[in-house]
Amino acid sequence: MSIALTARAGGLDRLHAATDLRGRFRLPAGVVYLDGNSLGALPAGVAEVVADVVHRQWGNRLIASWNEAGWWDAPTRVGDRIGRLVGAAPGQVVCTDSTSVNLYKAVVAAARMRPGRRVVLTDPDSFPTDLYVTDAAARDAGLVVEQVSPAAAAARIADIGDDLVLASYSSVDYRTGELWDLAAVTGAAHAVGGLVCWDLCHSAGVLDVGLDAHDADLAVGCGYKYLNGGPGAPAFLYVAARHQDDFDQPLAGWNGHATPFAMAPAYVPAPGITRGRVGTPPLLGMLALEAALAVYDGLEVTAVRERSLSLTGFFLQCLGELLPELAVATPRDAERRGSQVSVRHPDAYAVVQALIARGVVGDFREPDIVRLGFAPLYLSHGDVLRAAQHLQGVIGDRDFEREEFRTRATVT
Ligand SMILES: Cc1ncc(COP(=O)(O)O)c(C=O)c1O
Repeated sequence: MSIALTARAGGLDRLHAATDLRGRFRLPAGVVYLDGNSLGALPAGVAEVVADVVHRQWGNRLIASWNEAGWWDAPTRVGDRIGRLVGAAPGQVVCTDSTSVNLYKAVVAAARMRPGRRVVLTDPDSFPTDLYVTDAAARDAGLVVEQVSPAAAAARIADIGDDLVLASYSSVDYRTGELWDLAAVTGAAHAVGGLVCWDLCHSAGVLDVGLDAHDADLAVGCGYKYLNGGPGAPAFLYVAARHQDDFDQPLAGWNGHATPFAMAPAYVPAPGITRGRVGTPPLLGMLALEAALAVYDGLEVTAVRERSLSLTGFFLQCLGELLPELAVATPRDAERRGSQVSVRHPDAYAVVQALIARGVVGDFREPDIVRLGFAPLYLSHGDVLRAAQHLQGVIGDRDFEREEFRTRATVT
Protein backbone atom coordinates (compact mmCIF):
# COMPACT_ATOMS: atom_id res chain seq x y z
CA MET A 1 0.00 0.00 0.00
CA SER A 2 2.79 2.37 0.94
CA ILE A 3 4.60 1.61 -2.32
CA ALA A 4 1.53 2.72 -4.25
CA LEU A 5 1.26 5.87 -2.11
CA THR A 6 4.96 6.61 -2.61
CA ALA A 7 4.50 6.34 -6.37
CA ARG A 8 1.43 8.60 -6.19
CA ALA A 9 3.34 11.18 -4.13
CA GLY A 10 6.16 11.18 -6.70
CA GLY A 11 3.72 11.58 -9.57
CA LEU A 12 1.93 14.48 -7.87
CA ASP A 13 5.22 16.19 -7.07
CA ARG A 14 6.23 15.98 -10.74
CA LEU A 15 2.83 17.31 -11.78
CA HIS A 16 3.10 20.29 -9.41
CA ALA A 17 6.83 20.95 -9.89
CA ALA A 18 6.21 24.54 -11.06
CA THR A 19 4.83 25.62 -7.66
CA ASP A 20 7.47 23.87 -5.53
CA LEU A 21 9.18 26.83 -3.87
CA ARG A 22 10.87 24.98 -1.04
CA GLY A 23 14.22 26.25 -2.31
CA ARG A 24 13.09 29.77 -1.40
CA PHE A 25 12.71 28.87 2.28
CA ARG A 26 15.15 28.01 5.04
CA LEU A 27 13.77 24.98 6.82
CA PRO A 28 15.69 22.59 9.04
CA ALA A 29 16.58 19.34 7.30
CA GLY A 30 14.42 16.34 8.10
CA VAL A 31 11.45 18.33 9.40
CA VAL A 32 7.98 18.15 7.86
CA TYR A 33 6.63 21.52 8.93
CA LEU A 34 2.84 21.46 9.21
CA ASP A 35 2.50 24.56 11.37
CA GLY A 36 2.73 27.30 8.76
CA ASN A 37 -0.83 28.20 9.77
CA SER A 38 0.54 29.23 13.16
CA LEU A 39 3.99 30.57 12.30
CA GLY A 40 5.12 30.50 8.67
CA ALA A 41 8.61 29.31 7.76
CA LEU A 42 11.52 31.68 7.15
CA PRO A 43 11.85 32.69 3.49
CA ALA A 44 15.38 32.95 2.13
CA GLY A 45 16.52 36.55 1.94
CA VAL A 46 14.52 37.84 4.90
CA ALA A 47 17.41 37.61 7.35
CA GLU A 48 19.61 39.62 4.97
CA VAL A 49 16.94 42.32 4.54
CA VAL A 50 16.46 42.57 8.31
CA ALA A 51 20.25 42.79 8.78
CA ASP A 52 20.34 45.63 6.24
CA VAL A 53 17.48 47.42 7.97
CA VAL A 54 19.23 47.13 11.32
CA HIS A 55 22.83 47.84 10.32
CA ARG A 56 22.52 50.27 7.42
CA GLN A 57 19.05 51.86 7.54
CA TRP A 58 18.90 52.16 11.31
CA GLY A 59 22.55 51.93 12.37
CA ASN A 60 24.10 54.19 9.74
CA ARG A 61 21.34 56.30 8.30
CA LEU A 62 19.45 56.75 11.57
CA ILE A 63 16.43 59.07 11.35
CA ALA A 64 17.06 59.78 7.64
CA SER A 65 15.65 56.35 6.81
CA TRP A 66 12.11 57.51 7.55
CA ASN A 67 12.31 59.41 4.26
CA GLU A 68 15.14 57.69 2.37
CA ALA A 69 14.23 54.06 2.98
CA GLY A 70 10.46 54.43 2.57
CA TRP A 71 9.69 53.73 6.22
CA TRP A 72 6.80 56.17 6.45
CA ASP A 73 4.90 54.65 3.53
CA ALA A 74 5.65 51.02 4.43
CA PRO A 75 2.15 50.30 5.87
CA THR A 76 0.33 51.12 2.63
CA ARG A 77 3.10 49.73 0.38
CA VAL A 78 3.09 46.39 2.22
CA GLY A 79 -0.69 46.57 2.39
CA ASP A 80 -0.92 46.68 -1.39
CA ARG A 81 1.30 43.60 -1.67
CA ILE A 82 -1.00 41.73 0.70
CA GLY A 83 -4.00 43.11 -1.19
CA ARG A 84 -2.99 41.31 -4.37
CA LEU A 85 -3.12 38.01 -2.46
CA VAL A 86 -6.63 38.58 -1.08
CA GLY A 87 -8.21 40.01 -4.22
CA ALA A 88 -8.05 43.69 -3.27
CA ALA A 89 -7.08 46.39 -5.75
CA PRO A 90 -4.38 48.81 -4.53
CA GLY A 91 -5.27 51.44 -1.94
CA GLN A 92 -7.58 49.29 0.18
CA VAL A 93 -5.26 47.36 2.50
CA VAL A 94 -2.98 48.78 5.18
CA CYS A 95 -0.44 46.73 7.11
CA THR A 96 -0.84 47.79 10.72
CA ASP A 97 -1.28 46.70 14.31
CA SER A 98 -2.52 43.18 15.18
CA THR A 99 -5.55 41.31 13.90
CA SER A 100 -7.21 41.87 17.28
CA VAL A 101 -6.72 45.65 17.14
CA ASN A 102 -7.85 45.84 13.51
CA LEU A 103 -10.99 43.88 14.31
CA TYR A 104 -11.82 46.34 17.09
CA LYS A 105 -11.46 49.23 14.63
CA ALA A 106 -13.63 47.42 12.07
CA VAL A 107 -16.50 46.60 14.44
CA VAL A 108 -16.71 50.08 15.93
CA ALA A 109 -16.36 51.72 12.51
CA ALA A 110 -19.13 49.46 11.16
CA ALA A 111 -21.43 50.59 13.99
CA ARG A 112 -20.74 54.20 13.06
CA MET A 113 -21.43 53.43 9.39
CA ARG A 114 -24.83 51.91 10.23
CA PRO A 115 -26.29 54.19 12.94
CA GLY A 116 -29.56 53.08 14.49
CA ARG A 117 -28.89 49.38 13.88
CA ARG A 118 -27.89 47.10 16.74
CA VAL A 119 -26.82 43.55 15.84
CA VAL A 120 -23.40 42.08 15.15
CA LEU A 121 -23.27 38.43 14.16
CA THR A 122 -20.27 36.24 14.84
CA ASP A 123 -19.39 32.56 15.00
CA PRO A 124 -19.43 30.92 18.46
CA ASP A 125 -16.47 28.82 17.25
CA SER A 126 -14.40 31.85 16.24
CA PHE A 127 -10.80 32.13 17.36
CA PRO A 128 -11.20 33.49 20.92
CA THR A 129 -9.71 36.91 20.24
CA ASP A 130 -12.46 37.50 17.67
CA LEU A 131 -15.09 36.73 20.31
CA TYR A 132 -13.45 38.87 22.99
CA VAL A 133 -12.81 41.82 20.68
CA THR A 134 -16.25 41.67 19.08
CA ASP A 135 -17.85 41.68 22.54
CA ALA A 136 -15.67 44.55 23.73
CA ALA A 137 -16.22 46.61 20.59
CA ALA A 138 -19.96 45.95 20.68
CA ARG A 139 -20.11 47.07 24.30
CA ASP A 140 -18.23 50.26 23.48
CA ALA A 141 -20.40 50.97 20.43
CA GLY A 142 -23.74 50.05 22.03
CA LEU A 143 -24.36 46.93 19.91
CA VAL A 144 -25.53 43.43 20.76
CA VAL A 145 -23.60 40.36 19.65
CA GLU A 146 -25.37 37.24 18.42
CA GLN A 147 -23.39 34.06 17.95
CA VAL A 148 -24.51 32.07 14.94
CA SER A 149 -22.53 29.49 12.95
CA PRO A 150 -21.49 30.73 9.50
CA ALA A 151 -23.50 27.85 8.02
CA ALA A 152 -26.68 29.37 9.49
CA ALA A 153 -25.67 33.03 9.09
CA ALA A 154 -27.45 33.82 5.80
CA ALA A 155 -30.82 32.62 7.12
CA ARG A 156 -30.39 34.44 10.45
CA ILE A 157 -29.38 37.64 8.68
CA ALA A 158 -32.59 37.57 6.66
CA ASP A 159 -34.56 37.34 9.95
CA ILE A 160 -32.62 40.15 11.59
CA GLY A 161 -33.21 42.35 8.57
CA ASP A 162 -32.52 46.05 8.93
CA ASP A 163 -31.21 45.72 12.48
CA LEU A 164 -28.01 44.07 11.20
CA VAL A 165 -24.88 46.17 11.48
CA LEU A 166 -22.22 43.61 10.69
CA ALA A 167 -21.64 39.92 10.04
CA SER A 168 -18.11 39.27 11.30
CA TYR A 169 -16.72 35.84 10.40
CA SER A 170 -13.50 33.98 9.72
CA SER A 171 -13.23 32.78 6.17
CA VAL A 172 -11.60 29.53 7.39
CA ASP A 173 -12.33 27.93 10.77
CA TYR A 174 -9.07 27.85 12.75
CA ARG A 175 -9.84 24.48 14.31
CA THR A 176 -11.43 22.41 11.56
CA GLY A 177 -10.09 24.19 8.48
CA GLU A 178 -13.60 24.55 7.04
CA LEU A 179 -13.81 27.23 4.34
CA TRP A 180 -17.02 29.20 4.68
CA ASP A 181 -19.11 30.67 1.90
CA LEU A 182 -17.92 34.27 1.83
CA ALA A 183 -20.10 35.17 -1.15
CA ALA A 184 -23.30 33.84 0.45
CA VAL A 185 -22.82 35.56 3.82
CA THR A 186 -21.71 38.79 2.15
CA GLY A 187 -24.69 38.73 -0.21
CA ALA A 188 -27.12 38.06 2.67
CA ALA A 189 -25.70 40.95 4.74
CA HIS A 190 -25.90 43.34 1.81
CA ALA A 191 -29.47 42.28 1.04
CA VAL A 192 -30.53 43.79 4.40
CA GLY A 193 -28.21 46.79 4.14
CA GLY A 194 -25.62 45.40 6.58
CA LEU A 195 -21.85 45.03 6.32
CA VAL A 196 -19.39 42.13 6.51
CA CYS A 197 -15.96 41.81 8.05
CA TRP A 198 -13.86 38.74 7.20
CA ASP A 199 -10.98 37.47 9.30
CA LEU A 200 -8.52 36.13 6.74
CA CYS A 201 -5.88 34.78 9.15
CA HIS A 202 -6.23 31.27 7.73
CA SER A 203 -6.79 32.21 4.09
CA ALA A 204 -4.35 34.98 3.20
CA GLY A 205 -1.53 33.47 1.19
CA VAL A 206 -3.23 30.17 0.38
CA LEU A 207 -6.47 31.07 -1.35
CA ASP A 208 -7.87 34.15 -3.04
CA VAL A 209 -10.96 35.05 -1.09
CA GLY A 210 -11.77 37.65 -3.77
CA LEU A 211 -12.56 40.60 -1.49
CA ASP A 212 -13.29 43.03 -4.33
CA ALA A 213 -14.97 40.43 -6.54
CA HIS A 214 -17.46 39.62 -3.76
CA ASP A 215 -17.98 43.25 -2.70
CA ALA A 216 -16.64 42.59 0.80
CA ASP A 217 -16.74 45.63 3.06
CA LEU A 218 -14.05 45.07 5.69
CA ALA A 219 -11.43 42.42 6.41
CA VAL A 220 -8.57 41.77 8.80
CA GLY A 221 -5.79 39.20 8.95
CA CYS A 222 -2.34 38.47 10.27
CA GLY A 223 1.10 38.49 8.69
CA TYR A 224 2.78 35.64 10.56
CA LYS A 225 0.94 32.57 9.26
CA TYR A 226 0.89 31.74 5.54
CA LEU A 227 2.37 35.15 4.68
CA ASN A 228 5.55 34.08 6.52
CA GLY A 229 6.20 37.51 8.06
CA GLY A 230 7.80 36.07 11.20
CA PRO A 231 6.80 35.91 14.87
CA GLY A 232 4.54 38.82 15.80
CA ALA A 233 4.56 40.22 12.24
CA PRO A 234 2.12 43.13 11.86
CA ALA A 235 -1.39 42.44 10.63
CA PHE A 236 -3.56 44.02 7.94
CA LEU A 237 -6.87 45.82 7.55
CA TYR A 238 -8.98 46.04 4.38
CA VAL A 239 -11.56 48.75 3.87
CA ALA A 240 -13.31 48.70 0.49
CA ALA A 241 -12.67 51.94 -1.40
CA ARG A 242 -16.38 52.82 -1.41
CA HIS A 243 -16.44 52.88 2.41
CA GLN A 244 -13.20 54.69 3.14
CA ASP A 245 -14.66 58.18 3.48
CA ASP A 246 -17.12 56.82 6.07
CA PHE A 247 -14.60 54.65 7.90
CA ASP A 248 -14.57 56.45 11.24
CA GLN A 249 -12.36 54.16 13.26
CA PRO A 250 -12.09 54.62 17.02
CA LEU A 251 -8.30 54.60 17.47
CA ALA A 252 -7.49 58.09 16.29
CA GLY A 253 -3.71 58.11 16.25
CA TRP A 254 -1.31 60.50 14.61
CA ASN A 255 -0.19 58.03 11.90
CA GLY A 256 -3.77 58.03 10.60
CA HIS A 257 -4.01 61.82 10.56
CA ALA A 258 -4.42 63.74 7.29
CA THR A 259 -1.35 65.90 8.05
CA PRO A 260 0.65 64.12 10.76
CA PHE A 261 3.59 66.49 10.69
CA ALA A 262 1.41 69.56 11.03
CA MET A 263 1.17 68.40 14.67
CA ALA A 264 -2.36 69.81 14.77
CA PRO A 265 -4.22 69.57 18.08
CA ALA A 266 -7.38 68.07 16.53
CA TYR A 267 -7.72 64.76 14.72
CA VAL A 268 -8.58 64.86 11.03
CA PRO A 269 -8.50 61.43 9.41
CA ALA A 270 -6.31 60.93 6.36
CA PRO A 271 -8.08 60.21 3.10
CA GLY A 272 -8.15 56.61 1.93
CA ILE A 273 -6.92 53.51 3.71
CA THR A 274 -4.23 55.49 5.58
CA ARG A 275 -6.88 56.37 8.18
CA GLY A 276 -6.64 52.74 9.29
CA ARG A 277 -3.21 53.49 10.76
CA VAL A 278 -2.81 54.40 14.43
CA GLY A 279 0.69 54.87 15.89
CA THR A 280 4.28 54.36 14.76
CA PRO A 281 4.54 50.99 13.01
CA PRO A 282 6.93 48.22 14.14
CA LEU A 283 9.27 48.63 11.19
CA LEU A 284 11.60 45.71 11.81
CA GLY A 285 8.65 43.34 11.64
CA MET A 286 6.94 45.15 8.80
CA LEU A 287 10.03 45.20 6.59
CA ALA A 288 10.64 41.52 7.37
CA LEU A 289 7.07 40.82 6.22
CA GLU A 290 7.63 42.85 3.07
CA ALA A 291 10.75 40.81 2.28
CA ALA A 292 8.87 37.58 2.99
CA LEU A 293 6.09 38.54 0.56
CA ALA A 294 8.66 38.48 -2.26
CA VAL A 295 8.20 34.69 -2.46
CA TYR A 296 4.79 35.43 -3.99
CA ASP A 297 6.24 37.59 -6.77
CA GLY A 298 5.24 36.14 -10.13
CA LEU A 299 2.90 33.63 -8.50
CA GLU A 300 -0.84 33.61 -9.02
CA VAL A 301 -2.84 32.72 -5.92
CA THR A 302 -4.94 30.34 -8.04
CA ALA A 303 -1.78 28.24 -8.63
CA VAL A 304 -1.03 28.28 -4.89
CA ARG A 305 -4.60 27.16 -4.18
CA GLU A 306 -4.30 24.33 -6.71
CA ARG A 307 -1.17 23.06 -5.00
CA SER A 308 -2.76 23.46 -1.56
CA LEU A 309 -5.81 21.41 -2.54
CA SER A 310 -3.62 18.74 -4.06
CA LEU A 311 -1.58 18.46 -0.83
CA THR A 312 -4.56 18.38 1.53
CA GLY A 313 -6.49 16.09 -0.83
CA PHE A 314 -3.56 13.66 -0.97
CA PHE A 315 -3.21 13.77 2.83
CA LEU A 316 -6.89 12.85 3.16
CA GLN A 317 -6.32 9.95 0.74
CA CYS A 318 -3.30 8.79 2.76
CA LEU A 319 -5.34 8.93 5.98
CA GLY A 320 -8.15 7.00 4.29
CA GLU A 321 -5.71 4.22 3.43
CA LEU A 322 -3.40 4.24 6.45
CA LEU A 323 -5.76 5.29 9.26
CA PRO A 324 -9.32 4.65 8.09
CA GLU A 325 -10.69 4.78 11.68
CA LEU A 326 -9.36 8.26 12.41
CA ALA A 327 -12.01 11.01 12.84
CA VAL A 328 -11.29 13.76 10.31
CA ALA A 329 -12.67 17.18 11.33
CA THR A 330 -11.99 18.89 7.99
CA PRO A 331 -14.48 18.74 5.11
CA ARG A 332 -13.44 16.33 2.34
CA ASP A 333 -15.11 18.52 -0.25
CA ALA A 334 -12.36 20.70 -1.75
CA GLU A 335 -14.73 23.66 -2.07
CA ARG A 336 -15.18 23.65 1.68
CA ARG A 337 -11.55 23.14 2.70
CA GLY A 338 -8.93 25.74 3.61
CA SER A 339 -5.28 24.66 3.65
CA GLN A 340 -5.26 22.46 6.72
CA VAL A 341 -6.44 19.03 7.79
CA SER A 342 -7.47 18.49 11.38
CA VAL A 343 -8.17 15.17 13.01
CA ARG A 344 -9.79 14.43 16.35
CA HIS A 345 -8.19 12.22 18.96
CA PRO A 346 -8.91 11.95 22.70
CA ASP A 347 -5.16 12.33 23.37
CA ALA A 348 -4.64 14.98 20.72
CA TYR A 349 -2.07 16.97 22.73
CA ALA A 350 0.17 13.92 23.23
CA VAL A 351 -0.32 12.83 19.60
CA VAL A 352 1.02 16.22 18.47
CA GLN A 353 4.03 16.01 20.82
CA ALA A 354 4.80 12.48 19.63
CA LEU A 355 4.59 13.64 16.02
CA ILE A 356 6.96 16.51 16.76
CA ALA A 357 9.42 14.02 18.27
CA ARG A 358 9.34 12.24 14.90
CA GLY A 359 10.02 15.47 13.00
CA VAL A 360 6.43 16.25 11.95
CA VAL A 361 5.48 19.62 13.43
CA GLY A 362 1.79 20.39 13.87
CA ASP A 363 -0.15 21.84 16.77
CA PHE A 364 -2.92 21.06 19.23
CA ARG A 365 -6.14 22.96 19.65
CA GLU A 366 -8.69 22.41 22.40
CA PRO A 367 -10.44 20.16 22.99
CA ASP A 368 -9.26 17.23 20.84
CA ILE A 369 -7.81 18.62 17.61
CA VAL A 370 -4.54 17.59 15.97
CA ARG A 371 -4.15 20.51 13.59
CA LEU A 372 -1.94 20.12 10.54
CA GLY A 373 -1.45 23.11 8.26
CA PHE A 374 -0.25 22.65 4.69
CA ALA A 375 1.63 25.74 3.58
CA PRO A 376 1.74 24.91 -0.11
CA LEU A 377 4.90 26.72 -1.14
CA TYR A 378 7.33 24.66 0.91
CA LEU A 379 5.63 21.29 1.27
CA SER A 380 5.70 18.39 -1.15
CA HIS A 381 3.42 15.40 -1.58
CA GLY A 382 6.37 13.34 -0.31
CA ASP A 383 6.25 15.36 2.93
CA VAL A 384 2.52 14.76 3.13
CA LEU A 385 2.98 10.99 2.86
CA ARG A 386 5.74 11.04 5.50
CA ALA A 387 3.44 12.94 7.86
CA ALA A 388 0.63 10.43 7.36
CA GLN A 389 3.00 7.50 7.91
CA HIS A 390 4.31 9.03 11.15
CA LEU A 391 0.77 9.69 12.34
CA GLN A 392 0.01 6.03 11.64
CA GLY A 393 3.13 5.13 13.67
CA VAL A 394 2.21 7.40 16.61
CA ILE A 395 -1.28 5.95 16.80
CA GLY A 396 -0.37 2.33 15.96
CA ASP A 397 2.53 2.27 18.46
CA ARG A 398 0.48 4.23 21.02
CA ASP A 399 3.32 6.76 21.42
CA PHE A 400 0.75 9.20 22.81
CA GLU A 401 0.59 7.17 26.03
CA ARG A 402 4.20 8.01 26.86
CA GLU A 403 4.48 10.34 29.85
CA GLU A 404 7.00 12.63 28.13
CA PHE A 405 4.36 13.65 25.56
CA ARG A 406 1.63 14.47 28.07
CA THR A 407 3.06 17.47 29.93
CA ARG A 408 1.51 20.67 28.60
CA ALA A 409 3.76 23.55 27.55
CA THR A 410 2.49 27.16 27.66
CA VAL A 411 2.09 27.40 23.90
CA THR A 412 0.33 24.36 22.46
C1 LIG B 1 -8.72 33.46 13.07
C2 LIG B 1 -7.72 34.16 13.92
N1 LIG B 1 -7.91 35.46 14.25
C3 LIG B 1 -7.00 36.12 15.01
C4 LIG B 1 -5.86 35.49 15.46
C5 LIG B 1 -4.85 36.18 16.33
O1 LIG B 1 -4.96 37.53 16.39
P1 LIG B 1 -3.68 38.43 16.79
O2 LIG B 1 -2.81 38.46 15.55
O3 LIG B 1 -4.24 39.71 17.16
O4 LIG B 1 -2.95 37.73 17.88
C6 LIG B 1 -5.63 34.16 15.13
C7 LIG B 1 -4.38 33.49 15.62
O5 LIG B 1 -4.12 32.35 15.46
C8 LIG B 1 -6.57 33.48 14.35
O6 LIG B 1 -6.39 32.19 14.03
